[in-house]
Amino acid sequence: MRVLVAYASALGSTRGIAEHVAGRMAVALGEVECRSVEEIKSVSGYEAVVVGSAIHNQAWLDPALLFFTHNAHELAKRPVWAFSVGMSDALPRLFRKRGAELQQKRLEQSQFREVPLRGHKVFSGVYEAAQMPTPLRVLFRLTGGRFGDLRDWAAIDAWTDDITAQLATSSEGVGVQGLPPDRPAGA
Ligand SMILES: Cc1cc2nc3c(=O)[nH]c(=O)nc-3n(C[C@H](O)[C@H](O)[C@H](O)COP(=O)(O)O)c2cc1C
Repeated sequence: MRVLVAYASALGSTRGIAEHVAGRMAVALGEVECRSVEEIKSVSGYEAVVVGSAIHNQAWLDPALLFFTHNAHELAKRPVWAFSVGMSDALPRLFRKRGAELQQKRLEQSQFREVPLRGHKVFSGVYEAAQMPTPLRVLFRLTGGRFGDLRDWAAIDAWTDDITAQLATSSEGVGVQGLPPDRPAGA
């Protein structure tokens, strides 16, 4: 099965997650390609697509949004999963869960309207002190905030394995490409 894992990353942590997801899926599914969204001309040669973007200012990076818009018609014909990479696990403990939930809701309400998704997950990436202005850094740490590589590989693996299992099942049965053309993949 030919699967695309596409990503938009400013500082590399989303790319790292995309490469990890692609490598793990490839063990079970075979041909899984990992590419920057800017490298992709068309998704028509892929049977399933996973797209991830870093979050900046409560939204996906522009290249990832453009990828969705430009390929909406083709994406809507195949199963698509999305992941967003932010910094909710850097927040003071009390706000982490709520922060992640609110951000997930906001992203889903403002984006992804053109393409039905099989699933969307928000992960934390790498958030370094240098990314925050110095006066705020001290306050952030004092109130329980933290910096560093906050990627939860166990959660990423669990999400990847869930997608892999769905794709493996569908390729055994009617086949991903066997979906009737007028039926959205997320239906
Ligand atoms: C300018 C800027 C804005 C950001 N805005 C958000 C945001 O709104 N929500 C969030 O959760 N994280 C935000 N972050 C944190 C990044 O999403 C996080 O560091 C992520 O790991 C970056 O992924 P990347 O390494 O692939 O670029 C922001 C980071 C930067 C540099």
